[in-house]
Amino acid sequence: MSFLEISGLKKHYGPVAALAGVDLSVASGSRTAIVGPSGCGKTTLLRLIAGFEAPDQGHIALDGEVLANGGVAVPAHRRGIGVVAQDGALFPHLTISDNIGFGMGRNEDKRAERIVELAYIVGLDKAILKRRPHELSGGQQQRVALARAMAMKPRLMLLDEPFSALDTGLRASMRKAVAELLEAAGITTILVTHDQAEALSFAAQVAVMRDGKFSQVGTPRDLYLKPKDRMIAEFLGDAIILPAKISDGFASSSLGRIAVDTMERRDVARIMLRPEQIALKRTSREGMSGTSDMPFGEVTESEFAGSTCTIAVRLLNNSDPPDAAAIGNTPLILRKSGMDAPAVGEIVRLTVSGKAHVFA
Ligand SMILES: Nc1ncnc2c1ncn2[C@@H]1O[C@H](COP(=O)(O)OP(=O)(O)O)[C@@H](O)[C@H]1O
Ligand SMILES: [Mg+2]
Repeated sequence: MSFLEISGLKKHYGPVAALAGVDLSVASGSRTAIVGPSGCGKTTLLRLIAGFEAPDQGHIALDGEVLANGGVAVPAHRRGIGVVAQDGALFPHLTISDNIGFGMGRNEDKRAERIVELAYIVGLDKAILKRRPHELSGGQQQRVALARAMAMKPRLMLLDEPFSALDTGLRASMRKAVAELLEAAGITTILVTHDQAEALSFAAQVAVMRDGKFSQVGTPRDLYLKPKDRMIAEFLGDAIILPAKISDGFASSSLGRIAVDTMERRDVARIMLRPEQIALKRTSREGMSGTSDMPFGEVTESEFAGSTCTIAVRLLNNSDPPDAAAIGNTPLILRKSGMDAPAVGEIVRLTVSGKAHVFA
């Protein structure tokens, strides 16, 4: 049995099924991320785990102890669960020091030292401990909320979009710092986010949530490379999806013969590639002759955005007259390095690396 076990969890708000049957196992000391669009039920799930609300149906157990079974529930303050809410939810009338120390006893041994230490751990300067929340930036407030939750030495930490108030650069470094911090403290963590890159980089286990349910749970690599369906594929990143015929571990498609991740035989299938699996090499129309099963394309759009360049490539089938083959052919959209990206009108040869994923 895992550290946290959730099964058949349901919660309605009037006619809205915020949770429509959630199952989840979380190993002790691990990090799990739950990712899904706004309104899919992420916060509701955390609130039920934390004990702020009781489920209509289903079961939650932590470290072998039943926390909720249908409506019956252990109250939140007895669960040993730390929560960092979406908005930080600091006490505005208390100093930062008292916010961090909120869960500690007034007379707890070395209270002041522990507060300073926790502030240091989350990267806050000692000088701000006397301030009040409104005198801090959004990012600093989030760190205070994290320090406050850590102060309670939780068995389980729930983070509800804690990085969403931060700028992109700070966000990545904060995410890394928080991951290391929780890992060092051995605290099992669940992070909720609507940012797929955040989910994939933070956790060992990722659950993709949609309409109150998990549509897929797995390792970041499995979810990214073997998504169950097109929606999950596109939610987790850019995807190139092509019709194909599958046999003997290969697909025949408009990109030629590509290795796939299944041995089953299918006459009608859809395959998925991530854009970074496709390399482009400049050539010319003359360079296309004599290599009949290699895919070529013409760059029809090239949009420079600094470090990356988004390129549209219309496939030219070498065995047919290029213009005929191009009719009704949707271009592939590829994000490439901004350095030396091919320009509109250039002819490129496409090579695929790795395997394509076949949707079930
Ligand atoms: N207290 C509530 N009363 C009524 N509806 C709610 C309440 N909390 C959440 N909901 C609804 O439940 C659904 C899931 O909400 P929520 O869990 O906050 O989603 P997320 O955190 O993924 O954005 C939404 O449709 C939301 O409007
Ligand atoms: Mg939410």
